[in-house]
Amino acid sequence: MTLKKYLNKIEDFTGRTIVVIGATSGIGLALLTHLENKNAKVILLARNLSKANEIKKSHKNIIDVIEYDQTSTISIDKAIDTLISTHQEFDSIVLNCGILFNKTILENGYSTTIMTNYVGARYFIDNISPKLNHNVRFVIQGSIAAGLMKKNKKYDLTSRKLTKFGEYNISKGYLEAYFYKLVKENKYPNIEYVLTEPGICATNIIRHMVRPIRVLGKGFLATFFHPTKIASLPLLTGLSKLSKNGDYIIPRGIFSLSGYPKIKDLPLKRRRPYLFE
Ligand SMILES: NC(=O)c1ccc[n+]([C@@H]2O[C@H](COP(=O)([O-])OP(=O)(O)OC[C@H]3O[C@@H](n4cnc5c(N)ncnc54)[C@H](OP(=O)(O)O)[C@@H]3O)[C@@H](O)[C@H]2O)c1
Repeated sequence: MTLKKYLNKIEDFTGRTIVVIGATSGIGLALLTHLENKNAKVILLARNLSKANEIKKSHKNIIDVIEYDQTSTISIDKAIDTLISTHQEFDSIVLNCGILFNKTILENGYSTTIMTNYVGARYFIDNISPKLNHNVRFVIQGSIAAGLMKKNKKYDLTSRKLTKFGEYNISKGYLEAYFYKLVKENKYPNIEYVLTEPGICATNIIRHMVRPIRVLGKGFLATFFHPTKIASLPLLTGLSKLSKNGDYIIPRGIFSLSGYPKIKDLPLKRRRPYLFE
């Protein structure tokens, strides 16, 4: 398989508008190039407006940039109001933003990692969903690390005892279980949900690690795993007609660490309904 061959399997997106959260770096930024090549219009939700506006200059298909910080419910509420009042045309929302190794405790008691990767993402989904009166698909970025979360255990998400890496696994584990709950409940018949994983790739996600690990880690990841233009294909596939509501899209390589996307059902052990009982 080549990138060109895989991209040829995905239809043209002319006439579509896609909201992308977390596209100012790494995998989300790579997705923007695919979306431009597929002729989709894009609305960026970003915490760093100057960075987002700089990116807008080189991607002519970006039609708007809205300020959005997934660690703040005030910011999320404001962004939802702006998005709903100024754009009714979007058909999909990509929830890609995520963070690793940031234990800074926020006013609401959650660490930055737990808030960004799960609590904030869930708050956004829960609060925008009743306001959507047209068909919308959420494409949610999970992680292979979610599989490392212990089975049959509920967590206190404000616990200070969680390790930095534990917080990441748990936040992504809760997010993927929440995806499954949304699909099963089908509370909003106009909304579809797809969960993706990028595999492993070198990005700024390691920015909060200590410097030697950051420097060595980036080189190691870039050498042994796949580039962001491939790691972003599960998101692109999740936006396409190749996938449907409830699909789980991961790299097809060994241990799902790299490779072109494959579509499957979320494994039973990863559904974790007990987290919400
Ligand atoms: N890289 C990997 O190997 C890997 C593996 C598994 C899963 N993932 C997942 O893939 C997604 C993208 O990660 P990446 O590797 O591309 O990392 P990245 O390069 O660090 O990009 C993360 C993106 O999320 C945004 N973001 C972070 N916190 C935010 C907040 N509070 N509000 C709004 N936006 C925020 C960042 O904005 P700024 O530009 O302002 O920082 C950036 O656009 C994440 O969900 C990550 O967990 C990555």
